[in-house]
Amino acid sequence: TFPERYALRGDLLDFTADPGFAAPTGAQGVRYRPDHWLLVEGGRIAGVQADAPDASWAQVDHRGSLVMPGFIDTHVHSPQLDVIASYGTELLEWLNTYTFPAERRYADPEVAAAGAERFLDSLLAHGTTSAVVFPTVHKVSAEALFAGAEQRGMRLIAGKILMDRHAPDGLRDDVEQAERDCVDLVQRWHCRGRLAYALTVRFAPTSTSEQMHMAAALMKAYPGTYMQTHVAESRDEVRWVAELFPQSRSYLDVYHRHGLLNERAVLAHGIWLDDTDRVLLRETGAQIAHSPSSNLFLGSGLFDWLGAEGQGAHVTLATDVGGGTSLSMIRTLADAYKVQAMRGVKLTAYKALYGATRGAAQALHLADEIGSFDTGCHADVAVWDWTSTPLMQHRIGLAQDLHEKLFAWMTLGDERLLQAAYVAGTPRFRRA
Ligand code: GUN
Ligand code: ZN
Repeated sequence: TFPERYALRGDLLDFTADPGFAAPTGAQGVRYRPDHWLLVEGGRIAGVQADAPDASWAQVDHRGSLVMPGFIDTHVHSPQLDVIASYGTELLEWLNTYTFPAERRYADPEVAAAGAERFLDSLLAHGTTSAVVFPTVHKVSAEALFAGAEQRGMRLIAGKILMDRHAPDGLRDDVEQAERDCVDLVQRWHCRGRLAYALTVRFAPTSTSEQMHMAAALMKAYPGTYMQTHVAESRDEVRWVAELFPQSRSYLDVYHRHGLLNERAVLAHGIWLDDTDRVLLRETGAQIAHSPSSNLFLGSGLFDWLGAEGQGAHVTLATDVGGGTSLSMIRTLADAYKVQAMRGVKLTAYKALYGATRGAAQALHLADEIGSFDTGCHADVAVWDWTSTPLMQHRIGLAQDLHEKLFAWMTLGDERLLQAAYVAGTPRFRRA
């Protein structure tokens, strides 16, 4: 068994505030403490110090490694490991061709259980310790995900998908059954340990108005529940929503009219929003889970991050696997940089890493639990090599300052850099 009280030695990096889109030299909020000791007691951060701790602390030596809070993936689909890297389609065709057929299998409790374990272990093997997750429409798939996360002690936000139209047989629910399933899942899993329930409207095209109203009523009835969905991802999808909801001003407005936007709403993509939508995001406190890898892979578009934050909207980062092509938040950040480059905006490694840690924690109202090395937070910690290849070694060796080093790390790196992941102080992944 692992010690209850230990000090982990390494190059500690976390953030105290949003570095924003400032140039690297002017960036605020970066807290880098090379070769320091992270004190962990009872699964929580007890402090950070420069000197070796006294003998009452066991020592865990990760000297020379980059130690960060575990990543937070704010939008990912657990069953879609079965369709990641599928060729040749845009969103709506991709759903019909690959995703819906794959998700049907998760009605089977054995498939759901095996899938949940595979997914959660994969998250940990990519240095992601918290996530906001879509399973499938089947109650059993949400059940399996919650049970697996509880076993691993992970902070997880999830809920069964709501989908009562425009989906194939075996993937539709109805308002009454869905409500019973949600209530039962909320009562058994919401606020149990580190778990929270999210009312999960897949997207406006696959829910009736009645179903969205039902979801909003449950969100109100059960404090602390989240809402997750997709919005304004592809142009064809946006056109379809305009046909289905002619009375709404915009795609985002559909959710607003149904009472689904609040400070616990997580909306993936938001590529095709306008300024009125962005103001609505600010006013409601809802966040956009920006998913650059998915947006590139499905050809969806280039998200206007600066525009969204300019109007006061919260933006977090997500893999959106299986539309996204990797569970690695490092690869996702590298993709985010390239998407912004296409828009003429420079994303620093500081801003990117903040968004995958404290920024996400803050937007989810979980900053007192995850996303940083603040005293009292859960010790969700990822330990990374600085380099994994001769090329990386060469390039990072030439770096003149911290930002240059981190930017090269983020751009060249991936999950093979991960040495270990700790969840609430307990090692849950160790590289063989
Ligand atoms: N919109 C509705 N469902 C999905 C999904 O599974 N993935 C993505 N990327 N977009 C969606
Ligand atoms: Zn998605």
